[in-house]
Formats: sequence, C-alpha cells, structure tokens
Amino acid sequence: MENFLELVNKRESCRKFSGRTINREDLLKCVEAARLAPSACNSQPWKFIIVDDPALKNELCRAAFSAPYTASWPEKAGAIVVVLSESGTFASRIGNLVRDTRYYLIDIGIAVEHFILQAAELGLGTCWMGWFNEKGVKKVLGLPASSKVDIIVPVGYAESNETRKKVRRRIEETYKFNK
Ligand SMILES: Cc1cc2nc3c(=O)[nH]c(=O)nc-3n(C[C@H](O)[C@H](O)[C@H](O)COP(=O)(O)O)c2cc1C
Repeated sequence: MENFLELVNKRESCRKFSGRTINREDLLKCVEAARLAPSACNSQPWKFIIVDDPALKNELCRAAFSAPYTASWPEKAGAIVVVLSESGTFASRIGNLVRDTRYYLIDIGIAVEHFILQAAELGLGTCWMGWFNEKGVKKVLGLPASSKVDIIVPVGYAESNETRKKVRRRIEETYKFNK
C-alpha cells in the first residue's frame, strides 16, 4: 500500500465473503492496531471477542442475524468480531455526564476503524454492523445481560477484488476554513 488515502479508498463494506479461513496472526495484527487507538482519558473501553470456530460462528450468525436483522452473508466471513463496549474510566464517565457526549462510543469508533483499516491493508474485507440481535449475541457468547455490544464486524476474504466507487458528499460540502 503506497499511502494512507489509498488504503482509505481500498476499504469498503464487504458483504460477499469467499468462505476462506483467516490466520490468527493477521487477526491479531488488527487487534494490535485497535489496541493502539486513542481514547478519552485513555480509558480503552473495548474488548474484541473474535469468533473463528466454524460451529460457534454459525450459531452466532444465526442468533445475531435472524429476522428482523436478517443477513445470511456474514456466515461466509472467516471470523466474526464482536466488539464489547466497556463503560470507560471514572473520569471519562464524568465527562460524559457533564458534556452529554458518549465518549466511549467515539473511542469504540476509532478503535474499530483502526482494526478495519489494518484488515484492509492485509487484504481482508470487513463490514461495520450495528443492526443485529444483541440479546442473541450475548446469549450465544455467555455474556452478562448488563454488557453492551454496539458493533459486530465480520472479517474475511472478499469473493472479488474489485472495488466500488465511493458514494459520498462532495468535499466542498464537508469543510470550511475559519468559519
Ligand atoms: C456504525 C455503522 C453501522 C453499520 N451497520 C451496518 C449494518 O448493520 N449492516 C450493513 O450491511 N452495513 C452497515 N454499515 C455499513 C454502511 O452501510 C457503509 O459503511 C456505508 O454505506 C458506506 O459504504 P462503504 O463502507 O462501502 O464505504 C454500518 C456502518 C457503520 C459505520
């Protein structure tokens, strides 16, 4: 990969996986990229549960993506990454109350995007997923009811290497200098 913008352009949501397995070394590189992400008060409010066992993965997909959250394509991902959101440090929770800003969600967003960009650099496809059955996920993984799973990321090799043109607002609509 020549430069960062090239990598950013390469990353896109993958919804057609080949079914090929991923080696754990590559998955751990993605975790390392996420681990190094910045976070409010350095609270690092994330944990990644990486489900690569085929039987458990299928069970998880059935629980996560049944109606009204229907999606069958994640089953062909090599792994499903379940991102467990933690509540953050005391200081970041105080900040949350005072500013009415959920810093932990910003933190999770940065860490997950680090994970995803590292995956893209390794030639792996990913898709952010916020639409899934959270209760079902917690049940399959034996997570306490009080835990929070905001995002799931299927990771795998894409069926095709072709990239789509990005659908985005024009750059002029997204910034202003000095006002
Ligand atoms: C927080 C978040 C939640 C998302 N949830 C889903 C989802 O549940 N299912 C899905 O297919 N795509 C989901 N997406 C992917 C977006 O649809 C996608 O990023 C957007 O359309 C831009 O396309 P691109 O990722 O290919 O550039 C989500 C993306 C984000 C950032």
